[in-house]
Amino acid sequence: MKLFVTGANGMLGQHLIRQLAEEGKFQLHITGKGTNRVSYGKTSNVTYHALDLTDFKKVQALVEKVQPHIIIHAGASTQPNDCANDPAQCWKVNVGATRSLLRAAQKTKSYFIYVSTDFVFDGQDGPYDETAIPNPVNHYGESKLLAEEMVEMSGLHWAIARTVLVYGNKVPGGRSNFVLWVDDHLKKGLPIKVVDDQVRTPTYVEDLSKGIILMMLKHVKGIYHISGKDTCTPYELALKIASLRGYDPGLITRVTSDTFIEPAKRPLKTGFIIHKAVRELGYVPLGLEEGLRVVLTRHHNTD
Ligand SMILES: NC(=O)c1ccc[n+]([C@@H]2O[C@H](COP(=O)([O-])OP(=O)(O)OC[C@H]3O[C@@H](n4cnc5c(N)ncnc54)[C@H](OP(=O)(O)O)[C@@H]3O)[C@@H](O)[C@H]2O)c1
Repeated sequence: MKLFVTGANGMLGQHLIRQLAEEGKFQLHITGKGTNRVSYGKTSNVTYHALDLTDFKKVQALVEKVQPHIIIHAGASTQPNDCANDPAQCWKVNVGATRSLLRAAQKTKSYFIYVSTDFVFDGQDGPYDETAIPNPVNHYGESKLLAEEMVEMSGLHWAIARTVLVYGNKVPGGRSNFVLWVDDHLKKGLPIKVVDDQVRTPTYVEDLSKGIILMMLKHVKGIYHISGKDTCTPYELALKIASLRGYDPGLITRVTSDTFIEPAKRPLKTGFIIHKAVRELGYVPLGLEEGLRVVLTRHHNTD
């Protein structure tokens, strides 16, 4: 089975590829911007291709050359503020590249799995299940929703894995994430301001990878919400990290979203209802505390 994965160097990409490589039964063609930052042991079934997703001709040519059975499209412009500051680039990556991949997939008749986000929703009435009506409040969400719609109308066998506030251990060359940011600041005794008017279901990246692999193995069609099962505000999450680590909770100041002037508006109350994934895929994510323990222990050991 030949797989083509975009976003290999990203947080999800690196964990997903390690899990896929461990399965040992796939021929993996993985793509990322620039040099390969993914470590996947000594397996010889992985080929890395440097590929700028905005080079649409190269994207199509590579897919047609590889002839994958399955495409997992995880690469994206993922920062809402970057998308607000440069909507044209955001559109090029999130919409344009998805269109190119879909055109190529129509020729190779590949099963297409697209990774999307809770930011397709406006955050008025989360947590959301898969039947909820999207209504994004920023460019990032709009670009991801448009890409979703193109996937759904592609005529391909398709699936969409939406996820929420992903956390995990840092990958080589990768960005930090909220959990590691809180841990790093509190460890140094630095005060932080954290919002208490947004709600999420934080997702452990290894669970997200497992969920996507389950979707792929079951060859499902449609939208699946793949997130953690526990709901919290970022402030509550920060307090939990402090409690697990024995840090001073007084370092955390509770604020509302309007404290921060940011280029991109955030949806307030998102988070996902994951019953469909549990029922149809056998998806069982770790509880929030369990996931945090794993990540914080590893983060501590690599300090
Ligand atoms: N992280 C979250 O909390 C979260 C929440 C909801 C949904 N998602 C979705 O999950 C997916 C994976 O995100 P992630 O968390 O792994 O984010 P990430 O770490 O930012 O990974 C995204 C990857 O896309 C790559 N990329 C961006 N522009 C590119 C281009 N022009 N050509 C080639 N590659 C390009 C980035 O390359 P560089 O590394 O070289 O910059 C990066 O490796 C995305 O579709 C995202 O929308 C993430």
